[in-house]
Amino acid sequence: MNMQLSKTPIGLDGVPAAETVLSHVDGERGELIIAGERVGVLVGKTGFEGVTARLWSGATGQPVGEAAVRAVLGEARQRAFARLPDLLEITRGLSIVDGFRAAIAGLRAENGLQHEATIVGAFPVIAGALVQRAKGCDPVAPDPTLSHAADTLSMLLNRKASTPEVAALDAYFVTVCDHGMNASTFATRVVASTQADLFAAVTAGYCALTGPLHGGAPEPVLEMLDAIGTSERIKPWVDGALARGERLMGFGHRIYRVRDPRADVLKGAIGRLAGGGTDLPFAGEVETYIREALRRKNPDRPLDTNVEFFTAILLDALTIPRQAFTPIFAAARSAGWTAHAREQQRGGRLIRPSSAYIGPMP
Ligand code: ACO
Repeated sequence: MNMQLSKTPIGLDGVPAAETVLSHVDGERGELIIAGERVGVLVGKTGFEGVTARLWSGATGQPVGEAAVRAVLGEARQRAFARLPDLLEITRGLSIVDGFRAAIAGLRAENGLQHEATIVGAFPVIAGALVQRAKGCDPVAPDPTLSHAADTLSMLLNRKASTPEVAALDAYFVTVCDHGMNASTFATRVVASTQADLFAAVTAGYCALTGPLHGGAPEPVLEMLDAIGTSERIKPWVDGALARGERLMGFGHRIYRVRDPRADVLKGAIGRLAGGGTDLPFAGEVETYIREALRRKNPDRPLDTNVEFFTAILLDALTIPRQAFTPIFAAARSAGWTAHAREQQRGGRLIRPSSAYIGPMP
């Protein structure tokens, strides 16, 4: 390997790809700032509509208020519901994760309407319809008078959600709505940097999200907890997986060298939800042992719990089927993706990195 290549940041670690006013991740301090506010503070201050208003205002430089966002998202959910027969046409026979990818690719500009709202409004409607179809049921119509989180739960669960359930999903939506230049946001910005439209950009973002090294991790987190099963099996199961060189889902992060600040925000939201879903004390035992085992295995590389571990537990406690976890993550992250795409289109440069050629020379 030549000397030049060994310095190449393969995987683009630490390379700024864009300037943004939207969010900032400080991996050394374990801090996430979204639209000027620390994530833990933001969750206590506002809901999904509020943070979306902040992101869209920041991206476009044109202030938009929370009430206006609530109204446009309510209308957009209704429009998406009317288009469901078209959108779901191509998804027959596909899983929820793959069906969601195909359906969102069918979203398109609607005359005079904001693309951002069309996208963010449509995501939970499509996810809800795919969940209902998997159960052999008809889609549940949205209610534009509900908050985005409350309506999302009603379309997913086919029942009115309780106040603590809505608060928990809203806290989740705010917590994961944006997160610096993560892989899916980068993919979104690459596409937007070519001046392709927002629909193309967020479809790319979702495709990047589906992998288990990114937003595809929560379902495998629950599978891991199921496979471990009992307290006595934690040590042999975890030690065995690490000895085989497997990665434990819900742990580790490219940027954070300390605990992912979102993990504790979600843990707090789970604590306020009564009962249901994953056995929390058992999940806590698994988490404690895995953190110890990762410290032993990689003493020089701090690997801690990431957002996906608690995402899995929170969405499970809300009785959302695990096959829908990635689309629900996308429903939250769509606020960030649309803002990043707009910001990139407005002031960004075509993103076109280089590669390090290691093939033969002529
Ligand atoms: N389990 C076991 N070992 C791990 C884990 C893990 N979860 N994460 C990292 N490691 C190991 C790597 O194998 C590597 O070991 P090696 O040097 O012996 O090969 C070492 O720790 C360093 O890895 P990094 O370079 O820090 O990992 P990277 O930045 O490439 O990966 C990632 C980050 C993809 C999140 C990784 O930690 C991982 O695979 N985690 C599990 C999947 C997961 O939880 N994904 C969700 C991430 S959060 C999100 O995207 C929303």
